[in-house]
Amino acid sequence: MRWTYFIFLQCLLIAVVGTVVYIHKDKVNVHKTPPASLAKWYKPENKRQEWLHNMFKLRREIQAVKLYSTSNEDELLDKWTAQLSKHYLRISEMVPEWDKKLDEEALTQLQTSVKNRDQQGVSLALDDLNTSCNSCHQDYRSTVATMYRAPDFSSIKLSQPVAYKEHMKALITQVNQIKIASEDGKRDVALSSLSELKHGIQLQGETCVQCHKKETKLYPDVEMTQTIANLEQSLSNGTLKEQGKALGTLAVQVCASCHGTHRIAYDNRKVFVDGPNWRELIKH
Ligand code: HEC
Ligand code: HEC
Ligand code: HEC
Repeated sequence: MRWTYFIFLQCLLIAVVGTVVYIHKDKVNVHKTPPASLAKWYKPENKRQEWLHNMFKLRREIQAVKLYSTSNEDELLDKWTAQLSKHYLRISEMVPEWDKKLDEEALTQLQTSVKNRDQQGVSLALDDLNTSCNSCHQDYRSTVATMYRAPDFSSIKLSQPVAYKEHMKALITQVNQIKIASEDGKRDVALSSLSELKHGIQLQGETCVQCHKKETKLYPDVEMTQTIANLEQSLSNGTLKEQGKALGTLAVQVCASCHGTHRIAYDNRKVFVDGPNWRELIKH
């Protein structure tokens, strides 16, 4: 009797957990993250993005093998097949955990077909090889690109003792203060907030060089500076409509375009690198 009671409780528990997961299935996004050993082949552990460069070679080598197999240039076909083999096997030398992802049978098939000058065999083996490329890409390509190549703002420092995120909050407060003051006809408040915003933008501009070392990024650039001047003028003696337009343009040029590349990528990077925050997930 006690046993049936126990088993019943177990079944009930499994059913409850199953139902909760099922109900939320459209809100749960599962992604695979790569083995930690991959980090060795990316900056900062590596001088170059070595993993990615091996990938570029593979794509080029497949193209060359296809080309020389159909044009019957045997010497070149042999050369590129050898390179393709080397770089394909390099995948599991670099990340041993991904050994199972390779289709070594397809590679042997390719080498044999090349040796026999069997054009159709080469084509079929390349198709199989491509299937193995695609299967790994489906699982990992975008996660890896985001984790290892998206800009990382976690250690960006401002020249004043304020955290990067707090600086962002100050910027948006100033933008909104200008909007509120403009709507309510408080010209002096709007102008003094703009002056603070200008200072904040200047401070922001000093941080670009921490990543953009070769080609420096001008921030604010000529167009942004012009828009700031337009806004200042319209806040002094323009119509409400002119003020709104100038502020909107400024927000796009100075804030949104940077968020479109840097912030979206950084946000995603955090999700993959830090993993899910279970406490927050359960709370929601
Ligand atoms: C075991 C996993 C794995 C296998 C197998 C694999 N790749 Fe990749 N590949 C990746 C990952 C991870 C990335 C993302 C790297 C990045 O963006 O930094 C990638 C990226 C690429 C890219 C760059 C994509 C782009 O357009 O930016 C190319 C090209 C590429 N792979 C070609 C190949 C070819 C060709 C093969 C098969 C011969 C292959 N890969 C097999 C994991 C794999
Ligand atoms: C944490 C590092 C980091 C910081 C800080 C940073 N960027 Fe970038 N930025 C990148 C990376 C990485 C790319 C990707 C393209 C590349 O490799 O150049 C990029 C791309 C860009 C691009 C588009 C591609 C191009 O070269 O035109 C612009 C524009 C840009 N950044 C402007 C800025 C400005 C302006 C600032 C300062 C307000 C800034 N960035 C701060 C890392 C950073
Ligand atoms: C380098 C390009 C860049 C520029 C230019 C930029 N931001 Fe950001 N912004 C970021 C990044 C990166 C984050 C994410 C910071 C983090 O999560 O630590 C962010 C986050 C924010 C946040 C969210 C802060 C929070 O509480 O999480 C706000 C609000 C914001 N920015 C407003 C602005 C405004 C307003 C401007 C224009 C005046 C602006 N940003 C200009 C890159 C930029």
